[in-house]
Amino acid sequence: MATDQYQPLQGMSDLIAPEIDLWQALEARSRELLDRYAFTEIRTPVLERTSVFARSIGDTTDIVQKEMYTFEDRGGRSVTLRPEATAGVMRHVAGQGPEALESRLYYLGPMFRAERPQAGRKRQFHQLGAEILGPPNAAADAECIVLQKHLLDEWGLKDYRIRINTRGLPEDRRSVGAALRDALSPSVSALCEDCRRRYETNPLRILDCKNESCGREVDRLPPITHFMSSEARDYFQEVLRLLKRLDIPVEEQPRLVRGLDYYVHTVWEITGTALGAQDAISGGGRYVIPIGEKEVEGVGFAMGLERVMVALREQKADRKLISKRPKIWLISAGTAAFEENLVLMQSLRMRGLCCGMDLQGRSLKAQMRTANRQSAAHVIIRGEQEMERGTFVLKDMATGEQEELDMPGLMERVQALTPF
Ligand code: HAM
Repeated sequence: MATDQYQPLQGMSDLIAPEIDLWQALEARSRELLDRYAFTEIRTPVLERTSVFARSIGDTTDIVQKEMYTFEDRGGRSVTLRPEATAGVMRHVAGQGPEALESRLYYLGPMFRAERPQAGRKRQFHQLGAEILGPPNAAADAECIVLQKHLLDEWGLKDYRIRINTRGLPEDRRSVGAALRDALSPSVSALCEDCRRRYETNPLRILDCKNESCGREVDRLPPITHFMSSEARDYFQEVLRLLKRLDIPVEEQPRLVRGLDYYVHTVWEITGTALGAQDAISGGGRYVIPIGEKEVEGVGFAMGLERVMVALREQKADRKLISKRPKIWLISAGTAAFEENLVLMQSLRMRGLCCGMDLQGRSLKAQMRTANRQSAAHVIIRGEQEMERGTFVLKDMATGEQEELDMPGLMERVQALTPF
């Protein structure tokens, strides 16, 4: 009978070679770029008090209502595996002195949402996100979008679209909600069940409902900016102007509101054209997040790394990102050669080379098989003859060429293989 006792939970994955090479390449390039943009890393716990998420993401959102892994810890406290990182980062910032309210932080790690798994939708997935703390500032909103584009370009991803909209000032929330209810009141019966509920609790979310009938009703409405203060409209225009100045092509999307309640002002989403139904690679916006007695303001985004990787593979751009050091595999016949190889292997590693060998004294054939499985670029073979002559055979696994070298000759050749 088939057994799943060796499998991770549904919607979660073990990440191993060769797939892990792409993860590491993406992570390394991202960290380098985020450093160039003067961000520093923050690593918050994956487990937080439930209130950290419920209050900020919003009680009526899908994430809080249906998707959080929430349980009681041993002390009877309600805790939740983070469904996103912004709320936890703000929890940290709120507990620091005033200088933290100016920070530029990035994070990279697993998030958890109990969604129905499907292509592009996992229960444990990974986000790369960045947050610029501080009050509304159009240049900070624009910088976040510039950075995301730079990351995508750096990774070599093509064919994506950046859609942008505004949700207005926090003070506009009530009037926008009331105006939307007013405008939609003749057509409530045409809305889907979810949107009839949203009509009462969170009318803004009706705008981005995927249901066709809701879409038809929404298309009849004026853009939401119509219901906002002129201050909110001017702010949005300034963001658009800066993006144009910085040569970032964006599309205005009046129906885009995003699924988390903490957003105010600018919101955006980046979609990959080659992805299926779950095509959002990244999402972000400006926010005000209540933590305890405080409110923390900032702007940021998070990119879904699994989806980025699907898009990279689709475009055959994944291999170009990976640059691994060539591996050398040491092969020995006989115990004397084995021990000499152990010493040689250590000295090669001290010189910065990447190498390994079979430690179980298997046959030459078996050792060569392992070298192939390890994708070794070169092997160094030491048999009884070579031991007698004090030489080594260096074989290039791609061309099959081999040469016999003495120790100084070998060192010269292998040193040329390392970038360090
Ligand atoms: P979000 O739109 O919920 O925003 O998630 C951001 C990205 O995470 C999505 O665009 C998607 O690529 C990826 N993602 C979300 N759910 C899944 C899933 N179940 N499986 C695979 N990938 C997924 C946030 O999380 C906000 N915290 C972004 C933000 C940061 N806003 C301001 N600062």
